[in-house]
Amino acid sequence: MVTETELYNALKTVKIIDNRKWNGNRMTKRDGATTGIHRKNLAYRNGPCESGVFGMTANPQSSWKPRPSKLTNDYPEVYDVIERYMKERLPDFVFESVTVNHNLRCRKHKDSRNSTLSLITSVGEFTGGELNIQHPETGVKKTFDTHGKWVIYDGSKFEHWNNPIKGDKYSLVFYSRWSSLGKDQKKRILEKLTGGSEKFRLLEPGYLSTILD
Ligand SMILES: [Fe+2]
Repeated sequence: MVTETELYNALKTVKIIDNRKWNGNRMTKRDGATTGIHRKNLAYRNGPCESGVFGMTANPQSSWKPRPSKLTNDYPEVYDVIERYMKERLPDFVFESVTVNHNLRCRKHKDSRNSTLSLITSVGEFTGGELNIQHPETGVKKTFDTHGKWVIYDGSKFEHWNNPIKGDKYSLVFYSRWSSLGKDQKKRILEKLTGGSEKFRLLEPGYLSTILD
């Protein structure tokens, strides 16, 4: 089984972005391909906060057709470690892409382009960085520690944001963007993971927490 330390060490070898002199939400280009992005619109502060995508990605260079991302091609062994770390723990979760955020403290936002559930976990040497998720109807806010734990939520419907990070944090968000999961598929995954499906369910502070619409 891939340990958290093994995953952390693998992620540390990845150069998500090349140029840290950012001005706005600029893409990083290497060999003509996009590797990472400084998500100024999402980040609380300027600094070494980076975001890149493993797995399938689509952008103007690919005419918006899904294809393996630059990071996947550049670091196949790292992607293998990421996939194994996840699949060994939650084999039923279906995903196409993994966004890796390095020390990115997100502001309150929704992921409008993610068409389905997001599964998030984080690794590294850090404290803080907890994920806050707010229910769109009740306004109830819940705070989750994702360090070595897993949270499933609907990032397109639930606003979410991070607490301040102290140290070095990588968070990994697994999701599908192009082929949305059907209702039955979602239900099956959640039933398997939670032992039942309710309209709004929180399991905490356990290993697995879920929030769903
Ligand atoms: Fe998000």
